[in-house]
Amino acid sequence: MSPTNYPEKPLRKAIFPVAGFGTRFLPATKSVPKEMLTVVDRPVIHYAVQEAIDAGCDTLIFITGRSKRAIEDYFDRSPELEAELEAKGKTEALDIVRNILPSHVRCFYVRQPQALGLGHAVLCAADMISSDESFAVVLPDDLIDSRPCGVLSQMQAVHERTGQAVIAVEQVAQQDVSKYGILKTDGWMGGALPIRGIVEKPRSEDAPSNWGVIGRYILPARVMELLKDQVPGAGGEIQLTDAIARCLPHHEFVGLPISGKRFDCGSMNGFLEANMHFGMQRVAQGAAL
Ligand code: G1P
Repeated sequence: MSPTNYPEKPLRKAIFPVAGFGTRFLPATKSVPKEMLTVVDRPVIHYAVQEAIDAGCDTLIFITGRSKRAIEDYFDRSPELEAELEAKGKTEALDIVRNILPSHVRCFYVRQPQALGLGHAVLCAADMISSDESFAVVLPDDLIDSRPCGVLSQMQAVHERTGQAVIAVEQVAQQDVSKYGILKTDGWMGGALPIRGIVEKPRSEDAPSNWGVIGRYILPARVMELLKDQVPGAGGEIQLTDAIARCLPHHEFVGLPISGKRFDCGSMNGFLEANMHFGMQRVAQGAAL
């Protein structure tokens, strides 16, 4: 059977797996979720959420765990703070706290009871995805400064035009292939790489290419179905990559190379670089820091 791209509803739902512990940032992450650590003036998760909203998503599904309450509070209204700012006439600050999310956007929080892997985290949102819609998965650790629009918007444009599932990719150093999902591809098609296979964290000598998956996906609902009986893979975890691999015979997938600079905010170096990069940008724009 050749892969088909069935008619799609517009992309509206984005899943943010945010249940991880963030042990690399201890002691800060003992009480603050790693997604709430700030790059310049806003938490890392805010950048990911903004990127999804810019791509047209209005339903944000956070897969959370214990001690992640700060994320819910951040995206919720804060009547006491607003009243206080209003009373003091601090209109600029009031605008900032009121406009963290546009009014048409809704947030949902689903607890992942056990850390069984990225595939399992995504599966926790299964009840919120209908069988005829694609959904986005955004991994907030990958923070990407991309012009003229966000990476998910670029992926959404390809998805809307072709009905294909789209995964963001970047060429990674050969010694780093074992840290990523890696594509098997056979050349270019319309600026994207048709995906013929995908493997999670292969050994360098087994890697089918050095095109690494970056944390942005637009996936068909069938992937969610496949996750339901996905057996553990690399690292003993239920891997999203493995469910995608099983979906390849049924749906066309392409890898879209990211245009822009990526920061791995899951690592201390990447996080510090992101702060310097966005901080310098703010200075260049003449903003008071
Ligand atoms: C996850 C995915 C992997 C992908 C990576 C991108 O791995 O499983 O395929 O390449 O995100 O950041 P993790 O970094 O969570 O181990």
